[in-house]
Amino acid sequence: MLKEIHEQPQAVQTCLAAYVPSLKSAPRTPHPTIFPAFPATLNEVHILACGTSYHAGLIAQYWIEQLVGLPVRIRSGSEFLEASLPMTANTLTIGITQSGETADTLTAIALDKQRRLAQASAFQPRLLGITNQPDSALSKLVDWTLPTLAGTEIGVAATKTFVNQLIVCFYLTLELALSCKAISPEKIQTYSAEWSTLPTKIRAVLELETQIKHIAQEWGNRQHCIVLGRGISQAIALEGALKLKETSYLHAEGYSAGEFMHGPIALLDAHIPVIAIAPTDSTHAAMIANLRKIQSHGSPIIGILTEDATPETATMFDHALILPAIAHPLSPILSVIPLQLLAYHIAVQRGLNVDKPRHLTKTLSE
Ligand code: G6P
Repeated sequence: MLKEIHEQPQAVQTCLAAYVPSLKSAPRTPHPTIFPAFPATLNEVHILACGTSYHAGLIAQYWIEQLVGLPVRIRSGSEFLEASLPMTANTLTIGITQSGETADTLTAIALDKQRRLAQASAFQPRLLGITNQPDSALSKLVDWTLPTLAGTEIGVAATKTFVNQLIVCFYLTLELALSCKAISPEKIQTYSAEWSTLPTKIRAVLELETQIKHIAQEWGNRQHCIVLGRGISQAIALEGALKLKETSYLHAEGYSAGEFMHGPIALLDAHIPVIAIAPTDSTHAAMIANLRKIQSHGSPIIGILTEDATPETATMFDHALILPAIAHPLSPILSVIPLQLLAYHIAVQRGLNVDKPRHLTKTLSE
């Protein structure tokens, strides 16, 4: 797992090299080999996924809704059988699965495809798969596959495949934004420039490892932990909590910081650490206000901040992990990494086998 965490700058570099050129080409055409026929009319996007891939889907939902303006519905593959999404017209359905073999996700996609095939043309399936295994069962089910190009991932807890899913989801968002004319070519250039800084910025985040190891030593024996984020960081709170549960068996709950104030705050005392993902974006002031309230209940707080945070903000935390500043929508790609490292170091400190956690398999294919 640690090796794969440290492979992320290279994995991201490889993925960017495959996708960014098609956004920059002029006259612009969608990716020539892997995404040749973008649906002309789109009313809606649906996303089906499980586990960590579901969290990538939540971030894709945020990006597509905020940057493209298309409505996005997301459902866990494991829920689709009982509660399918409405069968809307002109809908792109995206299945996200690093293995391409997760039974719950594949069953959901197959059901959606089957019910749509019997309908009028506007309702016909338009299926896109995002996977690290382009030869998997997923690819046989869908019309187009976008590979995440992360290389082999052996650790059960997904790390580099998640980050590369985010790269591909952001690429897809920009493709959708261009075809819906929701974004200017200049803005695309800005994002492309920002994107290309990611490998270097991820390397800078990995340099926080010694500090994170100390935090793991100090707090790793706690029974419970809360992970909070607002806006786009909510999904990273869920993903960070999942990583902690999967590898270290620490009971971690991920929440929207705003929602946390409506009830769950009653859980807090001085024994429950809070990890706060608080990049300097439009949610920052509200997040800090929530955290001041949380602090008044005695909970220790680890802040995951960006370097453009004010010095006063940085000093309010028991520990502050400072990430490089990045254009607001891309912050999840950096903020998940300290949580991966924390999950890893707590697990190691507890003497656990991080690569093969109990009760889990890399792929739940039945
Ligand atoms: C299993 C793993 C999870 C993973 C999920 C989805 O449950 O234990 O870590 O996130 O499958 O996997 P996928 O291959 O579909 O991304």
